[in-house]
Amino acid sequence: MTKIAVIVGSLRRESINRKLAEALSKLAKKGTEFNFVKIDDVPLFNQDLEPSPPASVTRLKKDIESADGVLIVTPEYNRSIPGVLKNVIDWASRPYGKNSFDGKPTAAIGTSQGAVGTAAGQQHLRSILTYLNVVQMGQPEGYIVYRKDMVDEQGQVPDESVRKFLQLYTDKFVEWVDRHRR
Ligand SMILES: Cc1cc2nc3c(=O)[nH]c(=O)nc-3n(C[C@H](O)[C@H](O)[C@H](O)COP(=O)(O)O)c2cc1C
Repeated sequence: MTKIAVIVGSLRRESINRKLAEALSKLAKKGTEFNFVKIDDVPLFNQDLEPSPPASVTRLKKDIESADGVLIVTPEYNRSIPGVLKNVIDWASRPYGKNSFDGKPTAAIGTSQGAVGTAAGQQHLRSILTYLNVVQMGQPEGYIVYRKDMVDEQGQVPDESVRKFLQLYTDKFVEWVDRHRR
């Protein structure tokens, strides 16, 4: 069994990135578990809380640490990553010496209506994850320009060429996690 922790960098009810994450989880081969990490109750980071962190933070760190790999599916905000995602990464990286991402095989993918499909945001994310000693998947890259109804209500992807790419991405990601998991 390959256990993947999925972090979606948007809290929006109709998030297109959550839809993308759901489609990827449906495409994953048997023997793979995609567990969505709950982040909507994680408070804003405050170092005063570190000695006795909120339960949501303890759970977040455990969800990442117990996974074989992490998949981050995120929008791009102002050519970077959303504050919501940075907040979660900051919490998971602390306290000093207890970075939950340390050595964790991780990949990022994202979608937006904009022409670069989150590429600029993902470049920022890569530099943060490098500092956190994450093992990052280089290829394939996932910069998805969102088209209306790209993912339907059942999490299926009607367009064949998009579906084929997402299938390839999921297969390669899981294969890569299996190769690098500790
Ligand atoms: C604060 C903010 C900043 C944004 N900046 C970008 C951007 O830099 N590039 C881009 O392609 N889209 C940008 N967008 C548009 C988002 O891609 C769009 O809102 C998308 O639906 C967000 O993903 P979600 O549906 O998963 O929440 C921005 C949206 C917001 C709210």
